[in-house]
Amino acid sequence: MSVTERGQSGEKIDGFISLDLSDELEHAIQVSNLAYEVSHELNLEENYCYELAVAGMLHDIGKLKLSSCFEEDQEPLVIEELKYVRTHPALGYEELVGQGYSDNILKSILYHHENYDGSGYPGNLRGEEIPLGARILRVCDVYSALCADRPYRKAFEKEAAMEQMIKDVKLFDMQIFLAFQRVAHEDVEENKDEEKTCDRHEGYSAGGDGDP
Ligand SMILES: [Fe+2]
Repeated sequence: MSVTERGQSGEKIDGFISLDLSDELEHAIQVSNLAYEVSHELNLEENYCYELAVAGMLHDIGKLKLSSCFEEDQEPLVIEELKYVRTHPALGYEELVGQGYSDNILKSILYHHENYDGSGYPGNLRGEEIPLGARILRVCDVYSALCADRPYRKAFEKEAAMEQMIKDVKLFDMQIFLAFQRVAHEDVEENKDEEKTCDRHEGYSAGGDGDP
């Protein structure tokens, strides 16, 4: 049976794809935090922001249902493997439906790989056909993925990741992308302030007396 057949059958598969779970968890936390902040920036209600944080944590949970019949670091994936990996949003949706999650959370997960220009999957939805939560997750997911090491490339610096996203901006809802840029910019500025604070503390320590 090919990997494609296995994916489409919806058969319960034992074993994981060769995922590094600590990397996956770190990615989920980043997407969750970003989705929460971007939702706030868009002045969405607190409950909506919270739901997007939950969706961010769970958006790739369908990957745990993919079999380990190929190695993820064998890039690029062949067409069959790519089709199979692309079943993960639906697998995640199927795993969570009926478990008490809201329709907003479930639809955000199911459509988190849809692109604003209609080039995404699983439904080739475009524009506002894509649920708002999924459009928010898409931006946060791409940024987090670009800022992480991959077997075939090193992680992008934050500014370089942003430039890359600007080149591909047709994939995103512009209003959401602008809100995301404001959030990411604040994050960079905060990190700079933290670094300055750390430098000062290191300076005191290097002075040998330990106290400011
Ligand atoms: Fe995904």
